[in-house]
Amino acid sequence: MTLLVTGGAGFIGSNFVHHWLAEHDELLVNLDKLTYAGNLGNLQSLAQDQRHVFVQGDIADTALVAQLLQQYQPRAVLHFAAESHVDRSIHGPLDFIHTNVVGTCQLLESVRAYWAALPADQQQSFRFLHVSTDEVYGSLAPDAPAFTETHPYAPNSPYAASKAASDHLVRAWHHTYGLPVLTTHCSNNYGPYHFPEKLIPLVIHHALSGKPLPVYGDGMQVRDWLFVQDHCRAIDRVLQAGTPGETYNIGGWNEKPNIEVVKTLCSLLDELQPRADGQSYAAQITFVKDRAGHDRRYAIDAGKINDSLGWQPVETFETGLRKTVRWYLDHSDWVSSVTSGAYRQWVDLHYGG
Ligand code: NAD
Ligand code: TYD
Repeated sequence: MTLLVTGGAGFIGSNFVHHWLAEHDELLVNLDKLTYAGNLGNLQSLAQDQRHVFVQGDIADTALVAQLLQQYQPRAVLHFAAESHVDRSIHGPLDFIHTNVVGTCQLLESVRAYWAALPADQQQSFRFLHVSTDEVYGSLAPDAPAFTETHPYAPNSPYAASKAASDHLVRAWHHTYGLPVLTTHCSNNYGPYHFPEKLIPLVIHHALSGKPLPVYGDGMQVRDWLFVQDHCRAIDRVLQAGTPGETYNIGGWNEKPNIEVVKTLCSLLDELQPRADGQSYAAQITFVKDRAGHDRRYAIDAGKINDSLGWQPVETFETGLRKTVRWYLDHSDWVSSVTSGAYRQWVDLHYGG
C-alpha cells in the first residue's frame, strides 16, 4: 500500500508526512517542487526512513507524475502542493495560476489516466484528496454564522480564487469522470515548520530579532486558528472514512482578531524568553498599511466532520500556541536556514525594508 503526497516539503504537507509515518506503516512518495516554501529540512528526521521516498518535481510535469503513479501504484493521492501566501498572490498572481489551477488540472488528468486503468475493486477504493482552504468562501460579516460546506463560493484574493478554481476542477473530475475525490476546507493553521512569511511565525521571528511586528490595518481582522497536527489528523480521518464527492470543513472553533493573536504571542515570549531590557515584546507592535482586499473574517463550522467522522481538535489555541512558540525557540537553526537571502528580499519588497 502506498500514498502519493504532493507538497510534502511545505508546512502542512511535512507535518502530514510526519503524522502519517508515526501512525501508519505504509510507503509514502512525496512529490515536491521545492519552491521557496518547500524545505527538505522539514523532513530531516526521516532521512533514514525507507518508508519515505522524496522526489523533487512539479505536479504539472505529466510525464514525471505518470511515471511515479506507474512505479508506485498508490492507493491514494493527497494533494497539498500549492502557492499558499495571499500577500505573494497580490504581488504576482501568475505562479498561483500555474500551480494551483493548471498544476491541479494536470495532476487530475495524470491521476485519471492511472485510475481508469486500475482493476474495478482498486478503482473503487482509490481516493484523490484535495486540500483546500476556507478562503474560497470569502469574507464573513461580524455576526454571520460560520462557513458550512454549502456556503457559496466568493473568493476575494488571487490565492483564494486560484484555490476555488482548483476545487471546481476536482469536483468536475468526480462528476464527469467518476474519480473518487474528497475535498477539505481548513481554516488558518499554525505550528512547527510554518514558513515565517505567515503571521504567527513571522511575529515570533521578528520579535526575537528585535524587528517591528507588522499588524495590517486596525488588526481587527478575524481568523479561525487550528493547530496543524489537528488538521493532519482530520485529513487522515477524511481519507479513511470520507464519502467520495463530499467536502469537509475543518476548523477548531478558535476565532481571534489578529491583534489578540499578536499580543498573546508577545506574552508567551515575555514568559519563555524575556527581552534583555525587561520590556514586553508588545513594544515592537507596529500598525502598517492594510492588505489590498483584506478579508475581514473567516470562521469554520466543523459540525459535519465532527458528526459524520467523529473528528475534533485535540489542542486548544492556548496549548497549541504555547507548543508552537516553544518549537520556534528550540529550532532557531531551522529558522536561520529558511530566512536566507530570498526570504530577506521578500521582507524588503513587501514591508519596504
Ligand atoms: P506551503 O506554501 O508551506 O507549502 C506548499 C508546498 O508545495 C511547498 O513545499 C512547495 O515547494 C510545494 N509546491 C509548490 N508548487 C509546487 C508544484 N508546482 N509542484 C510540486 N510542489 C509544489 O503551503 P501550506 O501552508 O503547507 O499549505 C498546503 C496546502 O494546504 C495548500 O494547498 C493550501 O492551500 C492549503 N491550506 C493551507 C492553510 C494554511 O493555513 N497554511 C489552511 C488551509 C488550507
Ligand atoms: P496570513 O498568515 O498571511 O494568513 P491568511 O492571509 O491566509 O489568513 O495572515 C493572517 C492574518 O494576519 C491576515 O488577516 C493578515 C494578517 N497579517 C498581518 O497583520 N501582518 C502580517 O505581517 C501578515 C503576514 C499577516
